[in-house]
Amino acid sequence: MFQVQSLLNWNEDTIVLGVFQKNNQLGGLLSILDEKLEGQISELMKEGDISPKRGEISKLYPLGKMSTKRIYLAGLGKEKEFTFEAAREIFGKLFQSLQKARIQTAAVAADTFLTEEMDILEISHAMGEALHLSTYQVQNYKHKSNEPEKPIQQMTIISEKDSAEIQAALNVGEAYGKGTNSARTLVNMPGNILTASELAEYAARLSEKYGFECEILEKEDMEKLGMGGMLAVNQGSAEPPKMIVLKYQGRENWEDVIGLVGKGITFDTGGYSIKPKDGIVGMKTDMGGAAAVLGAMEIVGETKPEQNIVAVIPSTDNMISGSAMKPDDVIISMSGKTIEILNTDAEGRLVLADGLTYAKHHGAEVLVDIATLTGGVIVALGTEMTGSMTNNEGLYKQVLEASEECGEPMWQLPITEKDMKRVRNSQMADLNNSPGREGHAIMAGAFLREFAEGSPWVHLDIAGTATTKKASPLGPSGATGVMARTLASFVERFVPENS
Ligand code: BES
Ligand code: ZN
Ligand code: ZN
Repeated sequence: MFQVQSLLNWNEDTIVLGVFQKNNQLGGLLSILDEKLEGQISELMKEGDISPKRGEISKLYPLGKMSTKRIYLAGLGKEKEFTFEAAREIFGKLFQSLQKARIQTAAVAADTFLTEEMDILEISHAMGEALHLSTYQVQNYKHKSNEPEKPIQQMTIISEKDSAEIQAALNVGEAYGKGTNSARTLVNMPGNILTASELAEYAARLSEKYGFECEILEKEDMEKLGMGGMLAVNQGSAEPPKMIVLKYQGRENWEDVIGLVGKGITFDTGGYSIKPKDGIVGMKTDMGGAAAVLGAMEIVGETKPEQNIVAVIPSTDNMISGSAMKPDDVIISMSGKTIEILNTDAEGRLVLADGLTYAKHHGAEVLVDIATLTGGVIVALGTEMTGSMTNNEGLYKQVLEASEECGEPMWQLPITEKDMKRVRNSQMADLNNSPGREGHAIMAGAFLREFAEGSPWVHLDIAGTATTKKASPLGPSGATGVMARTLASFVERFVPENS
């Protein structure tokens, strides 16, 4: 996708430059270009036809003054306000306009995007990531494909800085973008096509590609291991459940293992506590946690951090039939804790409970679970913030830093001892799976905390952020692939508590 070059060849068909807002002053390459164009740029800027405002993309046609056919000028705003996130968004806009104009190759004068704070490596990462995020298209099943006829083929990065380092940063950015897109594709897939078995096969293929150890537990294995949460949710289904486990060992010894556990409900009808007809549409996305974990593992496969990771994905659909679980049932989870089912629609926490226990079984010492878990988190935080909870502020801080760096914000909700009492309030069992509407995002977190059993744990509720109704410079409406990047960035930088 990218090649790096040190000298700008002014004969390229399409050239891209960044323009900062600084009292209409040009500098460096821009001045050279302005000269070649006999002052056209400074003139158009004065007139306001070329805007250096952040996110404004202007086009210029040299028409014979140079052999370049067209020049794209990307407004970058004020230098001081030019963050990594801003850069990624601007590249997103830029690539979207190139794609729309069916421009397949272009040269980007990368040094025109640099500031004191933003070095070429950050710019390269932002560019690599944005290229894939911004041009992603939902894979659909239309006879007439809506894929672009002419997708972007190659970007030439022009910079005087070290080209090997630039290439490496571009590669990492591309891995982050592609991993996120893979998560998006999984989430967008309909439940009849992406069954638990299909998800397991996808995970097996990913493992083969990157050399992960892969274990898929079948229903009989779950019975042997006593995974009562998984089995209860799957009980009404015609599709077999799968507990998907991927292991990546980046250190000499299997220690300081990070457990990533993602909810993989391929369709959530709600079960006997059935969802209303409006609330059921869209429930193919209830494996968004699983997709984020698999997207992160793809990034891990590409970037190969020195970490140990066990990814666990409990997967099934949540259906109704003569054999389905019912409200009032009591089940025994793999941990041994008994659970009274008060609401069959609170199924995510049941499969995650066994997922967390199984991750610990595989040596996970810290746990991050991720799930489209509650409508409550959407009411509380809306669709821009992932809800998060923890039993360990140190680990939380590490996940938070990754989320901030990746532009995937999260907001912490508290879990108090009184909340713990509510999930433990059952005449019949150790826990109940639905203590009521009040603070129900917190109730789900409190329930899961029981299964971390004292291990440092962070819970991410992405019910509001896994999908979006509106397109943006970094992707279309539909699945966002949220948290694939945050998880990958978290594991890359993870420092164990005791080190
Ligand atoms: N999969 C849903 C949560 C959800 C809602 C995800 C909206 C995405 C968009 C989850 O399994 C669920 O149904 N949760 C219930 C929990 C309640 C029964 C305690 C909810 O949030 O209403
Ligand atoms: Zn549900
Ligand atoms: Zn669900």
